[in-house]
Amino acid sequence: MLHTRTLPPLIGQAPEFLMTLERISRSAGLGRPLLIIGERGTGKELMAARVHFLSPRWSADYVTVNCAALSETLLESELFGHEAGAFTGATKQYLGRFERADGGTLFLDEIASASLRVQEKILRVVEYGEFERLGGVETLTCDVRILGATNLDLQQQVLAGRFRADLLDRLAFDVVTLPPLRARWEDIPILAQHFALAMVRELGLESFEGFSMSAMQVMMKYSWPGNVRELKNVVERNVHHAAAQSGSGNVWVDEINLDPFASPWRPVAPASSITKVSDEGLLPRLPEPEAGRSFAGQVGRFERILLRQAMSNNQQHMGRAARSLDLSYDQMRHYLGKHALLAKSNKQKLV
Ligand SMILES: Nc1ncnc2c1ncn2[C@@H]1O[C@H](COP(=O)(O)OP(=O)(O)OP(=O)(O)O)[C@@H](O)[C@H]1O
Ligand SMILES: [Mg+2]
Repeated sequence: MLHTRTLPPLIGQAPEFLMTLERISRSAGLGRPLLIIGERGTGKELMAARVHFLSPRWSADYVTVNCAALSETLLESELFGHEAGAFTGATKQYLGRFERADGGTLFLDEIASASLRVQEKILRVVEYGEFERLGGVETLTCDVRILGATNLDLQQQVLAGRFRADLLDRLAFDVVTLPPLRARWEDIPILAQHFALAMVRELGLESFEGFSMSAMQVMMKYSWPGNVRELKNVVERNVHHAAAQSGSGNVWVDEINLDPFASPWRPVAPASSITKVSDEGLLPRLPEPEAGRSFAGQVGRFERILLRQAMSNNQQHMGRAARSLDLSYDQMRHYLGKHALLAKSNKQKLV
């Protein structure tokens, strides 16, 4: 994919974010490989593009490949190209992305997904600038700056035998780790405002009048495991919802719903996802731990599962749901509010 489009702006003022931008700008000047590490949705793609456009190679091509999106053979042929007849269906010669990025930058997104064989070939290009097209005999050379991104712990991947230690050594010349959104919470209001304004413009509405205090509090308290992407989606969905309700072109977001699936009619989990726990009765199966997701984020996810299940098993009756979890009514209400699962009707009843 050759990029000529203008880049979306990078928003943020938190010290952690400004320090990262400075690191990125410093790294840009070097022609060396750079690894960008960060949880999902932290802006790795945006940062990689910034590195290229701030580097001396800015006027040459910026080529990107998502290593997780292609099978091993397709990725190999995408990266290194192939000759006609190299495999069934290869009717014409195809120039790989290393060749097309010659003189420029190649961004290998989700680099940990590349197979060990592909990693070995990448290492050869990084070390000697050499490769062959699939089915080709001629050794080609290229001058490409490599940027890699991942949300995995590459050192752990090496220990698990899934990533080549020698490639990691070469790529780790320069490593920038992007802060998760919860480590730069000051940026939440700025980003939310930015995404809300953009959404209002996209919907062709008149003006964005802001978020209520409680809406902002919900956003500030949440741990954002999906980081900036999740915040963007939540803001866009809630702005859209508020616009539909307001009936005028002026949008005011009074409430933030973090979960698009929240509904009193949400289907109950099928029996297969329920695990029998000896003395404690039935509990939902624990969600699989997710690599790269914070402890708080995972605990929060489990809390939401328990709350939804209890509400749904008790026909949305908060008192009975509270009793089933051995919680007081106030505790139940607190938890439902924390996860924005409090149905409107329940809130009104309590005021
Ligand atoms: N600082 C920022 N300012 C404005 N938008 C941002 C910022 N950081 C990320 N975004 C937006 O958040 C979304 C996710 O960013 P991006 O795709 O770069 O994340 P990523 O780290 O590559 O995520 P993944 O690991 O899931 O691929 C994009 O829509 C991007 O435009
Ligand atoms: Mg990405």
